[in-house]
Amino acid sequence: MKKVFVETYGCQMNVYDTELVQTILTKNGYEAVKEETAADIVMLNTCSVRDNANRKIYNRVHEIRRGRKSPVLVGILGCMATNFKTDLLDNKALKIDFIAGPDSYKHLPRLISEASGGEKTFDVTLSEFETYSDIDPTRQTGPNAWIAIMRGCNNYCTFCVVPYTRGRERSRSPENIVEEVERLVANGYKQVTLLGQNVNSYSHEETSFTNLMDKVSQVKGIERIFFTSPHPKDFPTDLLKLMAERDNICKQIHMPLQAGSSRILKKMNRTYTKEEFLGLVDHIRSIMPDVHLSTDIILGFPTETDEEYMETEEVLKKVRFDTAFIFKYSERPNTTAERLFKDDVSEEQKKHRIIRLNAIQRDIRLEKNREKIGKDQEILVEKIGSRRDPNEIQARNEGNTVVILPSNKDISVGDLVMVKITDATPDVLRGEFV
Ligand code: SAH
Ligand code: SF4
Ligand code: F3S
Repeated sequence: MKKVFVETYGCQMNVYDTELVQTILTKNGYEAVKEETAADIVMLNTCSVRDNANRKIYNRVHEIRRGRKSPVLVGILGCMATNFKTDLLDNKALKIDFIAGPDSYKHLPRLISEASGGEKTFDVTLSEFETYSDIDPTRQTGPNAWIAIMRGCNNYCTFCVVPYTRGRERSRSPENIVEEVERLVANGYKQVTLLGQNVNSYSHEETSFTNLMDKVSQVKGIERIFFTSPHPKDFPTDLLKLMAERDNICKQIHMPLQAGSSRILKKMNRTYTKEEFLGLVDHIRSIMPDVHLSTDIILGFPTETDEEYMETEEVLKKVRFDTAFIFKYSERPNTTAERLFKDDVSEEQKKHRIIRLNAIQRDIRLEKNREKIGKDQEILVEKIGSRRDPNEIQARNEGNTVVILPSNKDISVGDLVMVKITDATPDVLRGEFV
């Protein structure tokens, strides 16, 4: 039983972790295959940030088993592994062979071999030190390379399960990160995205996130640097000035607002008020007038009234984010919000709010995209072939928005080119080569 397949759910950190798992397993004699049906060992790298995520996984496990004639080992990795370990092990109807949490991937070869012997095995211990800095991820194709620079979260927002599933914050050494970036450049990569659950809380001895960005942006040959996901509490002016100064740092910031009401923000333990958040946005724009801003919003947090929801709407209209990811509050087991507050906003109200806010944000996004028509932008080619046409070119601009371009045989994946924006929808821009 040596052929493995990993299916990835959740955030970019999981995408990166799957790449780490592939390296760990291939070094131990396993072969990574591209299709679930060709594998003897199938792993689901899971997410548990919102609730339909686990239902999806349970169904998926049944589906994998049902479709099989030959034996298969099924393993659960990722955030559900830590959070739902007992559930997963106790659930007799769900046949899981092994479970590995986000800090246990180096033990996978042992877990798999024990599971092959018919034993149910698991390791979900969280570490204060594991950063996988000695593992070179098996990168998926594409011009962007993910690099986890820190892992874990110490913030304990009351709604969020991540501190429990991923453990304490820890950062990799700057030398180790810079070496990885240099290796990537040598292999032809032009774009990196630095990752962390709280990427801008990065801190390694004397090195701050700003110092690290400075070092990474000085690596010769690296043309675009993104980072995600930051927390609004860690945006010092020196970081914003560095971003403004350096051509290769993309002017794109994800600023998770979560809610527009200061009372709700306090209950969420977000550590800023509405006014402080708006002040930060103004400050960022005073340093980088053309910055692309995106955000995350949770609707229907316990006790959120209609008036408080309206404050979220008001902040969205005021800030005019380029993108907003909007979620209904989903109670997560063991979080502070689950223990202390009742999930008392009805599903109906949550639905009403999400439909309304998505419509507002869609209009804003369309307006903002239309403002770009006629402008020149630098894009990085991501793939040949769009949803509509196999010859069209799909690329991304510096704000991480998709740009579709006409077919052009002189252009390949990974090229950085200037284009003129000619048309816009809420989701994509269209352009032509200049
Ligand atoms: N570390 C990142 C976010 C990780 S989770 C950060 O702080 O920005 C990504 C997003 O999922 C969060 O920003 C939040 O908007 C949403 N989310 C997290 N827990 C949630 C919950 N219990 N219900 C609904 N949305 C949630
Ligand atoms: Fe979750 Fe808050 Fe940590 Fe983000 S900062 S991962 S929302 S606890
Ligand atoms: Fe999900 Fe874990 Fe990422 S809960 S969003 S996979 S950190």
